[in-house]
Amino acid sequence: MLLAGAGAVGLGGLAGEALAAAPAAPLLNPVVRQRADAQVFRHSDGYYYLTGSVPEYDRLIVRRSRTLAGLASAEEAVIWRRPAEGKLGGYIWAPELHWIDGAWHMYFAAGDKGQPFRIRTYVLRCDGRNALTGTWSLLGEVQTPWDSFNLDSTIFHHKGVRYFCWAQKEPGIETNSNLYLAPLATPLTLGRPPVRLTVPTLDWEVRGFKVAEAPAVLIRNGRVFIAYSASATDDRYCLGLLTADADADLMSEASWTKSPQPVFVSSEETGVWGPGHNSFTVDEQGRDVLVFHGRDYKAIKGNPLFDPNRHTRVQRLYYKADGTLDFGVPAGAGEIPDRFSPLDRSGAFLRVEGEAVGVGEGPLAATQLRQKAGPAGTVTLEPILRPGHMLRVEAGKVVVAPAASGDRAAVFKRVKGLAGRGVSFQASDGGYLGHRDGAVVVGPARDARARAAATFVVS
Ligand code: AHR
Repeated sequence: MLLAGAGAVGLGGLAGEALAAAPAAPLLNPVVRQRADAQVFRHSDGYYYLTGSVPEYDRLIVRRSRTLAGLASAEEAVIWRRPAEGKLGGYIWAPELHWIDGAWHMYFAAGDKGQPFRIRTYVLRCDGRNALTGTWSLLGEVQTPWDSFNLDSTIFHHKGVRYFCWAQKEPGIETNSNLYLAPLATPLTLGRPPVRLTVPTLDWEVRGFKVAEAPAVLIRNGRVFIAYSASATDDRYCLGLLTADADADLMSEASWTKSPQPVFVSSEETGVWGPGHNSFTVDEQGRDVLVFHGRDYKAIKGNPLFDPNRHTRVQRLYYKADGTLDFGVPAGAGEIPDRFSPLDRSGAFLRVEGEAVGVGEGPLAATQLRQKAGPAGTVTLEPILRPGHMLRVEAGKVVVAPAASGDRAAVFKRVKGLAGRGVSFQASDGGYLGHRDGAVVVGPARDARARAAATFVVS
């Protein structure tokens, strides 16, 4: 049990705590500026690869890095530029890099010179094992059932089948695009007629344009999840979600359930607008990561497609108790947030909602705090819903207050968990961040129970 009001011990006078290793260079959002529609994945060669749309829509780029954070400063290779005339001389959109049959293939959408929105899906193939330095040549156009606007393709494997999922305008359906799925027989041809997975009909799918595009697939917890993007590419852009049982017939429309509400939308609190066109990857610890783009502002002058500031962002992806995805909200600029679950209350987390600081179950966004590094292994803790605010100690209790430079009451030394695992946070007065009766307090943590209450498992 934590006692309030520990004896005053300056941060410099810590009683011989084994200090936790300094955190690696932080992964900061936005990760890469002005790269929309980003595909980020960790390949079997140990590299993270990034490709995405550039504001000029005139070329295909690839970055790679041994770490997610390294993508921010990684060298960017231009692997292909559109021709000055003719086919593929229009807008170049939403590339995806895939290793198929022993070679790199780049799938992308391209318009034609003079008809830049006559968008079709094409494939380049690389002659070398290094996607950044190899020679790329056009393999051809992906053959779909209709000669119509199609884009945002992705490929995934499930139960021995290589699937192709993409967005296309279907003749006779008055939408910009719907989602389709089919096995991929060869890099350019489908193994059978596609199944139509979804048509944008819900109010949050048809704001500005009737759009279902940018499918991204994640297979977890006995389910196949397909996240997709909806509505116009301004602040109304958002993610929807289709879910099928992993043992179902994915080629049956009846296998798929659409979330009635969007799962990821703009956030006034965190200052991220139009989050969408996502992909999925894992961090260096194998934890699921959501990759998406978003802007730092809501109001756009002119056509949002030509506003360049859809930046690549990442955040960890979490699951509800039933194994379904919990996207939360876009986390905002700065360090990637974490969740902190007391060792003695699994399933509960440090949580900040408005002025209330406590320990509880959720919602997810209320339990995400970013650790902002300070000197000598210290951190401040910023709730993502309260940018510019920090946890601080006041009379043995922990409150949320505006960040102030030099505020020692908001500085914590991050140390190895007092109960032998996880982390603990030692306040300037020498006490440890813990909890009691749902409140977050600071105290000496002198016995095993108190140490468990002052130890947090970070997820
Ligand atoms: O970013 C260009 C296009 O705009 C993408 O292909 C699509 O997902 C979005 O609507």
